Amino acid sequence: MSYAFSQLAYIVATALFIFSLHWMSDPKSARRGVYSGVAAMLIAVIATWVQPGIIIHHAWIVIAISMGFVVGVPLSRVPLTAVPQRTALSHSFGGLAAGLVGTAEYFLWLHGEQQNLTTFRMTAIIAEIVLGYLTFTGSLMAAGKLQGIKWIPQRPVTYPLQNVTNIGMLLLALVLGVAIILNPVAGWASAVFLIIIGLALSFGVLLIIPIGGADMPTVISILNAYAGLSAVAMGFVLNNKLLITAGALDGSSGLILSIIMCKAMNRSFANVLFGAFGQVQSVKVAGEEKAYKVETPEGAAQILEEANFVVIVPGYGMAVAQAQHKVRELYDLLKKRGITVKFAIHPVAGRMPGHMNVLLAEAEIPYTDLVEMDEINSDMPQCDVVLVLGANDVVNPAARYDKTSPIYGMPIIDADKAKTVFAVKRSKNPGFAGIENELYFSDKTWMLFGDAKVVVGELVKQLSGGGMC
Ligand code: TAP
Repeated sequence: MSYAFSQLAYIVATALFIFSLHWMSDPKSARRGVYSGVAAMLIAVIATWVQPGIIIHHAWIVIAISMGFVVGVPLSRVPLTAVPQRTALSHSFGGLAAGLVGTAEYFLWLHGEQQNLTTFRMTAIIAEIVLGYLTFTGSLMAAGKLQGIKWIPQRPVTYPLQNVTNIGMLLLALVLGVAIILNPVAGWASAVFLIIIGLALSFGVLLIIPIGGADMPTVISILNAYAGLSAVAMGFVLNNKLLITAGALDGSSGLILSIIMCKAMNRSFANVLFGAFGQVQSVKVAGEEKAYKVETPEGAAQILEEANFVVIVPGYGMAVAQAQHKVRELYDLLKKRGITVKFAIHPVAGRMPGHMNVLLAEAEIPYTDLVEMDEINSDMPQCDVVLVLGANDVVNPAARYDKTSPIYGMPIIDADKAKTVFAVKRSKNPGFAGIENELYFSDKTWMLFGDAKVVVGELVKQLSGGGMC
């Protein structure tokens, strides 16, 4: 009876997980998506708990759930800017859990019912421990880099034959894996099993150190895919269908997200994983230094007031400055004057997927005014003023034609097609890709140098009558 109940519950949980992913893809239904994901997980836990084989282990389950709360509650309270490293930590726990379950199952069966160590199960166990343990250390490293922990360098760390060493190490783990799959109960098998664990743990660290801190969000979603795949393998080991479906959803969504990010950055997986991007920020402009035209907030406010259609392009700088609430005030003031205001959202603006959407939602800007890049670009020639707010690479026209540029081919927001451009940033420094942006030297561009929150605050002051007559 309880078996039939749990299988039925697993189907319901799987459906809820699928709906959850579907709903989370749109801001209108995202909240419902979160609730349905939580409900699915609750059903999954209860349905597993009531299974006959679990009955004698209640105390362990209660301890595990309590420990989950102790770690999970503080993690849920981190600021928005720390979400990428928090996500990496969650993946590391998932990877560790999969690795430990695989290890426990192997040794339990090795010292008990050896007939359970079939070729199929052993293949699943090896996949589970390799993916699980490398996700564990890889995600910990990624979280450390993003958190800026002192002894983990943020910059890519490279050394000769690095990729050969890494791939060699993974191959060695796989060869040993095949050996143990074929001889799971041999005298040397448990030692080799531990060596594979050691190799997977080291591979996770070595995989991440050559990757720059700013590429971490993409790497985290790749690690998400690995964690999902290790859960699938765990599902096969434990013969648990829900783990297989939930792991497959987790793995495929992580993979799809990393593909979307790579496409939006015009980078390949290989380039993200092995390219040591962000290591050398050395692009120099030949010849004499180009001149910027600089505007004051007062002058910019006057031009903004006369516009009919204003587009704000937020970028990483808005996140750094935490300027979203000031931006909301600016938005309100412009709307009050009957000006159409839209936000142009680039898929990789900022440093994590949906970064701009989350910040603007936090400031309660209506999501109907957040327009995706593909949609807003056709309106850019009609735009009177575009306010580029701490964005750089995502509006760099070099992406369209400069084949030598690291961002060549990346789709951009056509800010250069607007009638007037105001660009807010603190200095002449480049953005993530380390390259100069010709948009800033264009005839129609005026720079508003300063911290985004301060500059937008000034614009708000001017527009609310604090400085304008
Ligand atoms: P960036 O190209 O990184 O440019 C951000 C700009 O903000 C910089 O030029 C910086 O100039 C300015 N800035 C920094 N702090 C500021 C502050 N407090 N006030 C005002 N300006 C400030 O950002 P973007 O245009 O958003 O592009 C994102 C880049 O990150 C892309 O290259 C993308 O490929 C990459 N990336 C994105 C993701 C995801 S998933 N979003 C993941 C990995 C990599 P100053 O220093 O002069 O102020």
